Amino acid sequence: MSLTLQQLNVEKIKQDFPILQRKINGKRLVYVDNAATTQKPSSVLKAMDRYYLFFNANVHRSPNTLGEEATIAYENAHKAVAQFINARSWQEVIFTKNTTEGMNLLAYAYGMNFLKQGDEIILSEMEHHSSLVPWQQIAKRTGAKVKYIPLLDDGTLDMKAYQKLLSSKTKIVCVCHVSNALGTINDVKTIAKYAHEQQAICIVDGAQSVPHMKIDVQDLDCDFLLFSGHKMLGPTGIGVLVGKKDLLEKMPPFLYGGDMISEVTYQESTWNELPWKFEAGTPPIAEAVGLKVAIDYLQKIGMEQIHAHEQELIHYAQEVFSTLKDVTMYGPEKKAGILSFTVKGIHPHDLASILDRHGVMIRGGHHCAMPLMKKLGITGTARASFYLYNTKEDIDKIKEAILDAQRIFK
Ligand SMILES: Cc1ncc(COP(=O)(O)O)c(C=O)c1O
Repeated sequence: MSLTLQQLNVEKIKQDFPILQRKINGKRLVYVDNAATTQKPSSVLKAMDRYYLFFNANVHRSPNTLGEEATIAYENAHKAVAQFINARSWQEVIFTKNTTEGMNLLAYAYGMNFLKQGDEIILSEMEHHSSLVPWQQIAKRTGAKVKYIPLLDDGTLDMKAYQKLLSSKTKIVCVCHVSNALGTINDVKTIAKYAHEQQAICIVDGAQSVPHMKIDVQDLDCDFLLFSGHKMLGPTGIGVLVGKKDLLEKMPPFLYGGDMISEVTYQESTWNELPWKFEAGTPPIAEAVGLKVAIDYLQKIGMEQIHAHEQELIHYAQEVFSTLKDVTMYGPEKKAGILSFTVKGIHPHDLASILDRHGVMIRGGHHCAMPLMKKLGITGTARASFYLYNTKEDIDKIKEAILDAQRIFK
């Protein structure tokens, strides 16, 4: 059975997001900057408030009622994440600050310890700076080499070239599941399979996929998966790194300090069990509480429903945009709900400013993918990225605003 837009009650969903009632420049807010960050439903905000108002305490240290309640809530958030992406165990779920911090954790704890001169790290040409920069730095420090899976003209990855890049020197393959700049959905299951054939590990940047589609980390069989709470209706300040237990056990900690230890003497320390070994210091407790409620919210609506809704929106947007003169769309036709485009003669920043006058929030710029923009021969794009609270009317508003920008710039 194919799912249709009618099955998602968007008008009802919108009522859960107070910010969407706002007017910007006298116009109804059209928020289509979801790849940057998403809006938060009241239930997430209320849950965080409830934590601060009624059971605020630190976790894993205070044997009192509040301490125990906070600890249970914090651990339950790990369990909710594990269930959401079908992790083998909640001990494999580590809370970080965001996707970027998770990647740095891997770069330092895995890369710095297991890479040596001559080893190879394979990234793709469409990676976010949060992958490019840490791995470039680790390569410099270890003598490893970074190689890139090239992009085909249609905005997908050249899988044949990827297979040719792989060799016994390959130790790490790190790719995004969904490109934030192009909307391309990469076949990460196959990418991981090929990496494993060379005994390399596969890291999947799920920042733009986990919030938008049903993910089964065991089915993907990647070694690590990363994502950010703020891109999936949750608060800022919390992200997730999910990893295979044997690898996490093998890796030394990334940050050192309280809570991540088992035993400390003046000379030596030993490490706590997973996941706490990688969660030094006071963690993002309120944020974890908020993230759990965000996951509950998404699951109540259904990830398949959300994906189907976004697919309908992106198809409609592609249809509408193809009727516009001097508008170029980037990325493959079959893609996630992310539309990168340029309008001839109008800088993406100027376009974003004019759209703002219409109450339409888009992003304009390089999308933290400067090398990709350079490869495409542009400095940046405008980007509309959709979520469960967007509608076809929002896309009509974007069209009107683009037509206005073209009138102004004529
Ligand atoms: C594909 C991708 N990876 C990583 C990130 C980094 O996420 P964060 O800024 O939450 O660390 C982003 C953010 O836009 C992204 O789109």
